[in-house]
Order: sequence, then structure tokens, then C-alpha cells
Amino acid sequence: MTDTPRYHPGFGNHVSTEAVPGALPIGRNSPQHVPFGLYAEQLSGTAFTSPRHENRRSWLYRLRPTAQHPAFTRYEGAPNLGTAPFNTLPSPNRMRWDPLPWPDAPTDWLDGLVTYGGTGSVAEQTGVAIHLYAATADMDRAFFSADGEWLIVPQDGRLAIDTELGRIDVAPLQIAVIPRGVRFRIALPDGRARGYVLENYGAPFRLPDLGPIGANGLANPRDFETSGAWFEDRDEPFTVIQKFQGGLWQTRLDHSPFDVVAWHGNLAPYRYDLTRFNTINTVSFDHPDPSIFTVLTSPSDTPGTANCDFVIFPPRWMVAEGTFRPPWFHRNVMSEFMGLIAGAYDAKEGGGFVPGGASLHNQMNGHGPDQASYEKAVASDLKPVKIDGTMAFMFETRHVVRTTARAQTSPTMQLDYDDVWRGFPKATLPR
Ligand SMILES: [Fe+2]
Repeated sequence: MTDTPRYHPGFGNHVSTEAVPGALPIGRNSPQHVPFGLYAEQLSGTAFTSPRHENRRSWLYRLRPTAQHPAFTRYEGAPNLGTAPFNTLPSPNRMRWDPLPWPDAPTDWLDGLVTYGGTGSVAEQTGVAIHLYAATADMDRAFFSADGEWLIVPQDGRLAIDTELGRIDVAPLQIAVIPRGVRFRIALPDGRARGYVLENYGAPFRLPDLGPIGANGLANPRDFETSGAWFEDRDEPFTVIQKFQGGLWQTRLDHSPFDVVAWHGNLAPYRYDLTRFNTINTVSFDHPDPSIFTVLTSPSDTPGTANCDFVIFPPRWMVAEGTFRPPWFHRNVMSEFMGLIAGAYDAKEGGGFVPGGASLHNQMNGHGPDQASYEKAVASDLKPVKIDGTMAFMFETRHVVRTTARAQTSPTMQLDYDDVWRGFPKATLPR
């Protein structure tokens, strides 16, 4: 047993790991006698019969079987954690929010989640939910979502994430992904933490295909890090909370659920350092669609049309000649929820989109650079320049995002957001 997180590099690799030498069975997944009397348990993240290249599962060897628990009863906490579909009227309006305020009372990561919106339907295993969090206390309980995998994007403050399959530390500019069903607990080494979560009801995130880019580029597989086995041997009362079809349920164990001594497989939490993203862009003119910045994708049943893409806008050189360099005006069949981890976003130089804030541009509604960004871009001398010290991201989904009533009525919503596009002068035609 070790207190130092261990990592295995590589996306989707089959990992074999043990926190106690000799704990991992060799040659059989479920031998008649598991070393030390551990209990073997398969955790399936895809259907048994999923194609081999998409199949994700791990075998866990633990002090007690997960099945050993009393019935779950309803949990009334996490009051702002919601699940799609939402019954609010979808709005075509562009929306933007200031950062979540810090809670007044000590609030752990779970109770600090605030759902801003979602798409699709948890029952249909399509779409996503988008949560923000502001937390000031360590969790002393375990949580898991049976509804989807959780992509966590820290913006302020580090997270120390204990999971059944190991420990993961993340800081702003890193992300963590917790698979559906995996129990986890989050402590706050900096005393408080704020950030974003995408709960993915659909196909698990994977790396996008690269096509003509070739074998390398964008997020490289070796830069993803899977946790190594870690466990705690604690025979004391422990609460486990699960999210199941939107409902929250709790049960009480007489031991820690973080008791997996060894495991092997390719289904496990992982982290990724966004600064390792190999950013690709034009070296001539125009700029490619922002899909060139895709880190992870959850495909839908329609090829090329994602249930959700996780896209970042990292530091990069801008060298395009004769080109309007910021993100252009556009209308998109996909819906775009954006957040800002650090710095400024090059389409919103007029202010208002600040680290910890968020914006939503739903399907087919026009958006793009604000007037300050536009005027700066058309007047600039197009020398090579580096956009630095910034990291914005986007959750882009094929489904329209329905915002929650709480998000719509939040005092952090900027009611004057439309004004950033108000003052553009009319083009002048020749007489
Ligand atoms: Fe956009």
C-alpha cells in the first residue's frame, strides 16, 4: 500500500497493477482461489459483446465484494445536481455566466455541484449534463454515477481524487475522467476548488481519428495517465452515494469501498495534461474548423457527428496571412458550451468571459468575435503572434443544450450578453 499516486502512461492500455505483491492472479481472471482470499469482480464499461477495439472492462480484486451492502435509500443532498432531459423550454438565446460564487457554508465537491444544462436523455444513454462546481471541504464519502462517465475540468484549485482503481491528482490545466460506476472521493489540497464537469451519458470518450494528420498529433495516447492500484483497509462506517437515472441514493457500509488491492484491464480513471496537446493549425491562410482542437470525442450513432466533443483552445502561434485570425462569425448545427480555465479567449477581448465563467451558443444561433476582438483583428499587422497564457475549452454536442431553471435565473447570468455584438457598423456597398 502506498500513499503516492502511481501512473501508467497510455490511453486505453491494458494495465496490470497490484498494491500488494502477489495479489494479482496470473493466467485466470477468476481463479478458484484468489491470492489472499481477495474477491474477483468484473467491472464492465461497455457491453460484453462490444467490438474488441471499443471493449472496456477491468477485473478488480478486493477485500470484500461490492455486492456486500444494504439497500440504498434516497439521498436529499446535492440539491443542484440535475439530470437530462430537463423540462425547461429550450432557449435559442446566447447565454453567458460569471463564475460560480464560493459557497457560504463548508461544502464538499458533491454538494457543490451545480447543473447548468444538459442534452439528450439519461434513459436513452444519449447526450450529456454540464455541471459546474465550487467546493470548500473534503469529501468524507464515496460517490459514483451509474448515469455516465465524468470528465472533470479543474479551473481553480487542485483535486486529489481517490478512486477504487487508484489515486489521481489533478490541477488546473489538467483533466480527469472517471468511468461510469467507479466510486471516487475528492479532497481539496488548496482548501477550495472550482471547475467544470461533463457527465457523458453516451459512448465513452476516446481519442479522435487523425485522418490525413497521420499517426501523431493532437492529444497523443502516451500522455494519458491511468492510476495504479491503491487501497485503504478501513473497517469503519462509510457512506456511498450513487446517481442512478438522475436520482441520488445512499447506503452505509461498515468498511471503505476503496479496497481494491489489485486490478487489470483497460477501464480505469485517467488524467491528461492539456499543456501536452500538440496543437495543429494553418501555416498558410484561413484557419481550420475548431474540430482541429478536439482532445476527446464521444461518438454518436452517426459517424462524424459527436454525442460530445471535448475541445480546447490552447496557446498557439497565429501566422495565417491575409486572414481574419480570431474565430469567425458562425452558426453551427452543433451546440457549444464553453468555459475558460485561464487567460483570455481570442474571440472575446471585450471582456465578460472570465476564468471560471461559461457561455452557451445553441444550435444555429449566430455568434463569434465581439466588437473589440473584430476591430483589433481587422486592424492588426499580420505578423506571427503567439496567443499565450490561455486555455479555453468547449463541450460541443449534436444535441441542443437545455439550461436548468437555476442557470437561467442565476445572478451570475449576464443579461446584457447580446450587446457584445450590437455595435457593428453596416457594410458599405459601392454606389
Ligand atoms: Fe462557436
